[in-house]
Amino acid sequence: MAVKFIVSRYNSETDAKPYFQEFSLDIPKGATLLDCMNLIEWQQDGTLTFRMSCRSAICGSCALRVNGHARLACKTQAVDVVYEGAVKIEPIGNMNVIKDLAVDLEPFWESLEKVSPWLMPDESIKYEKERLQSHEDQLKIDHASTCILCASCYSDCNVLNVDPKFLGPATLAKAQRFVFDSRDAETEARLDYLSKLHGMWDCTHCAECSTRCPTDAKPLSRIKELRTAAMSRGFTNNNGARHVLGFRESVGGFKGFGGGGMLNENYIPIRSVGFFNLDGIFSLLPVGFRMFIRRKNPPLIPHIIEKIGEVRKMFRRFDEYRKESK
Ligand code: SF4
Ligand code: SF4
Ligand code: FES
Repeated sequence: MAVKFIVSRYNSETDAKPYFQEFSLDIPKGATLLDCMNLIEWQQDGTLTFRMSCRSAICGSCALRVNGHARLACKTQAVDVVYEGAVKIEPIGNMNVIKDLAVDLEPFWESLEKVSPWLMPDESIKYEKERLQSHEDQLKIDHASTCILCASCYSDCNVLNVDPKFLGPATLAKAQRFVFDSRDAETEARLDYLSKLHGMWDCTHCAECSTRCPTDAKPLSRIKELRTAAMSRGFTNNNGARHVLGFRESVGGFKGFGGGGMLNENYIPIRSVGFFNLDGIFSLLPVGFRMFIRRKNPPLIPHIIEKIGEVRKMFRRFDEYRKESK
């Protein structure tokens, strides 16, 4: 059966904007999407441009947007992505297109460089041979080490779509790999950098990166590990960490902290920007005013849920458990 391949075409030197071109192809049994792209190029249009190398989901070159989501063409069975007789193929997102399906990856590499993705060991320690690592320590960086730098996560990250300065999921996954490396000596400096604006706290937990990631790197899980590491080492003087603490104080029902056992939406924004940060507090006023006009503002005196004591008990038990498991 012939399948319609609707492929985005664009030549940055001659076209004003991208357009779609349709190709018809009988998908051979067992063919990957990359196999089909190659057949289209070899048999129908030799000018079609896309990247590939290993054909084994190792090099990370062949990421494309298929029916709106990033995936590795060589790891995708073509028949699995055919809907109503067609498959739509576009370049990965959040980067400029150079030609057809090939994008300019420069912003992706630039972001990666910002977290110094190499080992920075304590050079004063002299080793006779190589720096050894225990099996348990290796497991802490095992997932992030599987990243093949395909940029699928970068393509579909919603935050990067609105803030190109955000470090992005792949970079944060790579940062986790070095923060948690027992041989690295720059953990504090790395966490300090990652805690800043455009860093790990700007992720909105949409989980798109982990859904799109073709390996076990799963960036959102790595971001959570980085945040936990930063907070347990005292990097709490930033909006993201304060937001988490405010959430906990509010939901955990902590007396005197705006905590009634449920979200206190008057308290959390101010707690997040910092109680003494007047500029930050003033920046909240327009949103507060709009909420007031639309009668969406929460009550000034927070509601306190029934059995608040039970919630507090749960949080206390959780704290004890954490201490015990350390
Ligand atoms: S979970 Fe965070 S990093 Fe991942 S895609 Fe969503 S916003 Fe981006
Ligand atoms: S984290 Fe996953 S999706 Fe992102 S670049 Fe690495 S392998 Fe690709
Ligand atoms: S061609 Fe290398 S990952 Fe697909």
